[in-house]
Amino acid sequence: MSAVLEAGTAAVGAASAAIPSPPKSIATEVVPTETAPAAAASSAIAIVLLGTGVVGGALLKLLNTPAAASIRLVGVANSRRQQTQAASLASRGLREQLNSHGDARDNAALLAALDASGAAARVIIDATASSSLASRHAEWLAHGYHVVTANKALAGGELSGWRALQAATANGASYGDAATVGAGLPVLSTLRRLRSCGDALLTLEGVFSGSLSWLFNQYDGSAPFSALLREARRLGYTEPDPRSDLSGEDVARKLLIIARHAGFSIGSDEVAVESLVPEALRSISAESFLARLEELDGALAARHAEAAARGNVLRFLARLNQRGHARVGLVEVAPTHPAARLYGTDNQFALTTTRYNTQPLVIQGPGAGPEITAQALLGDVLALG
Ligand SMILES: NC(=O)c1ccc[n+]([C@@H]2O[C@H](COP(=O)([O-])OP(=O)(O)OC[C@H]3O[C@@H](n4cnc5c(N)ncnc54)[C@H](OP(=O)(O)O)[C@@H]3O)[C@@H](O)[C@H]2O)c1
Repeated sequence: MSAVLEAGTAAVGAASAAIPSPPKSIATEVVPTETAPAAAASSAIAIVLLGTGVVGGALLKLLNTPAAASIRLVGVANSRRQQTQAASLASRGLREQLNSHGDARDNAALLAALDASGAAARVIIDATASSSLASRHAEWLAHGYHVVTANKALAGGELSGWRALQAATANGASYGDAATVGAGLPVLSTLRRLRSCGDALLTLEGVFSGSLSWLFNQYDGSAPFSALLREARRLGYTEPDPRSDLSGEDVARKLLIIARHAGFSIGSDEVAVESLVPEALRSISAESFLARLEELDGALAARHAEAAARGNVLRFLARLNQRGHARVGLVEVAPTHPAARLYGTDNQFALTTTRYNTQPLVIQGPGAGPEITAQALLGDVLALG
């Protein structure tokens, strides 16, 4: 039997990277500001939220629940506008209002709102996929702001960015990253805990994409793959342009993040990625791609038939071996393989370590969705209080 940590029973996103104590430069006394609502004036944690899309919008809803009572929102931004006025921030229609009202984007004004909050912990939450914002994370940490992120672009990007991140967290600020892998499933926190006990990751294998999990859990050859893909898109399981999922790049970023946490210094060019998007469909418009989905069908039907003839199934797996070789792609597995027994959009992370070496430690559960991802962000913020 594998040891299974179910999503519902494990602490989700409770641990953050690096050192938990607040940076020395942050005032420890809470100073209420004139514009802050009275009830929130004693908040220990001030936050700025970058991104009000699917995940950011879900987080705004969670901020209106009692669980977030210690948190004060002092700024919010989408890609075009931002808001720092307390009255507007308190509005339930904040996300919609930001589409037509607000100040021009200016990160400095958001940081100034954090500084003026007087809160014990100043936190920047990145709920975007913006590489340019991710490239600022290390700088923000170095200046004493905590960063909590769903954005994988820094930790799962160039190795130089990962190293800059490690150096920046050494100064005392925390990097909350639970939402970057498995939408808050306790993968990174478990890995950190094992490593703190002297355990070490030997190999890693799993299904790291909710959309690819759903597609191959469903695909039994009875309907064309393109029909399933259209259905997955209709259900909101894929990105609007499903090539973001099918390319394997997002899975590769998650593999890099876990591997780097485990101590493997792997560059982004060292992950072998098998894309499910045929060469001819890679650089056409999203609209043209969606009109030509049937071109995916032939090759996948042939691979499915070969696997089925041997009694096996196809799964889109991420794998890291003991020598640090990382690979992402479609693999034929036996029905007894842990990945063959997944449901819906489940993610699965099977960790073999020096102490979990007979059977892997398997972490499994829903690995996508706005509410659970937003909860992972909230959990990382609350851990700073
Ligand atoms: N959806 C999930 O289930 C899930 C699960 C785990 C992790 N994630 C990760 O969470 C992040 C957000 O995903 P999502 O699904 O919420 O995406 P989304 O719906 O596309 O929302 C992205 C948001 O980021 C904003 N944005 C882009 N550049 C910005 C900038 N420079 N400054 C401020 N805001 C900016 C966008 O602004 P506009 O509104 O102006 O375009 C939008 O509000 C991504 O990194 C994703 O990989 C998502």
